[in-house]
Amino acid sequence: MFRLTLLRRAIALCLFFHAIEIRGIQLSSTTQEEPTSFAQASAYGQVKQNYISMKSTIIVAAASGQDSGSWDQTYFAVHETSSGGPNDNYYGLQATTGVYGHKLKPRQLTSTFITVTHSGDGVKSSFNAIQVGWHIHPENYGDSRPHFYTYWTRDGYDATGCFNMNCPGFIRASGSLVAPGDVIKSNSGVHEPVQNVTLKVLKDKTSGDWWVYYGFNGNPTGVGYFPRSLFTYLAQKANGMAFGAFVIADKTLPTPPMGSGAHPNGGQGRAASFTNLRFIDQDGRSNPMTTDWPKLVTSNKCHSITPIDRAGCLYGGPGGCVR
Ligand SMILES: *[C@@H]1O[C@H](CO)[C@@H](O)[C@H](O)[C@H]1NC(C)=O
Repeated sequence: MFRLTLLRRAIALCLFFHAIEIRGIQLSSTTQEEPTSFAQASAYGQVKQNYISMKSTIIVAAASGQDSGSWDQTYFAVHETSSGGPNDNYYGLQATTGVYGHKLKPRQLTSTFITVTHSGDGVKSSFNAIQVGWHIHPENYGDSRPHFYTYWTRDGYDATGCFNMNCPGFIRASGSLVAPGDVIKSNSGVHEPVQNVTLKVLKDKTSGDWWVYYGFNGNPTGVGYFPRSLFTYLAQKANGMAFGAFVIADKTLPTPPMGSGAHPNGGQGRAASFTNLRFIDQDGRSNPMTTDWPKLVTSNKCHSITPIDRAGCLYGGPGGCVR
C-alpha cells in the first residue's frame, strides 16, 4: 500500500514538473496517473525531459522513506547535470556543506544532499540512485537533530532501497568512524562558526563499487560502499548527478527551513553554502566544477540556489512557505 502511494506520488510529481518544464506554467500537482501512463508518456522522445525532472522529483518522493501520501508540500533547490545521453558518463562527485540545527516536528523534513543516478532504460522502475547527505527527519529518528544519511534504489524507489542500514545494501568499511544514520553532533549556531561536512561518492575503478566518504570539518574518509552488484545500470556508471536540498512537510504543518534558514538573496543572516564542489573521473581523480549546471527550483520565493561559481554556491530559505 505504502509503495503504491509513494510510486503514484512520484509519478504525479514527475508529470507535474515535466509539465512545468514543457509549458513554462504552473499546473495543479494533484494529477494522478497509473504507472502505465507514465511508461506511455516516456515512450516517444520525452524520456530525457522526464528524467531530468524525475530525478529531482523522485528524490523528493523518496525522501521521507515511508508513505508520504499526505506530506504534500515539497520544495527543492538543486543543481543537476543533463542526464541520459550517450555522453553523460559520471563516476562521482564531492561537496562540502554546512550543517544546521532546526527544531522540526514529525512530518517535517529538511535535507541537503548529493546524488549519482542512472536513468536506466527510460522506464521509472529501472532508475538507479545513490543519495548521501545530512537531514533532520524526526519521523525516521524520533529526534530533531541532523543525521548523516545514505539512500539507494535500483527501481525508482519502489521496492528496493532504504535509508542508512535499514535494509541490506550498504557495507560498512572496517574501522570507519561513522555509520550512515549517525547524529552529526556539532550544530552550527548563530554565533558559532559553521560546522561542515564533506561528502563524496565515487565509483571505485577496480571493484566497480560505489564508495561513500564523509568528513567532519576535515578531509573525508571511507565510510563504506554500495556493492556494484546491488545495482543494474549504476553497476556500469552514472549518467546523471545532482546536489542541493529539499524540504517536505505535511499539509497541516509549515515547511521547515532549508540549509541555514537564510535565503541566498535575502540579506538576512548567512545562507548555507556548497563549497569545493568537485567532479571525480573514471580514474578517481577529482577536479573543481568550473561550469554552471541547470537548476531545478520549486519556488524561488521560498528557497533558492545560486549559480555555481568558483566550485561553490549558496542555497536555502526560511520555513513557513506556502505555494
Ligand atoms: C565551514 O565552511 C565555511 C565556508 O567555506 C568556512 O567559512 C568555515 O570556516 C568552515 N568551518 C569550519 C569549522 O571549518
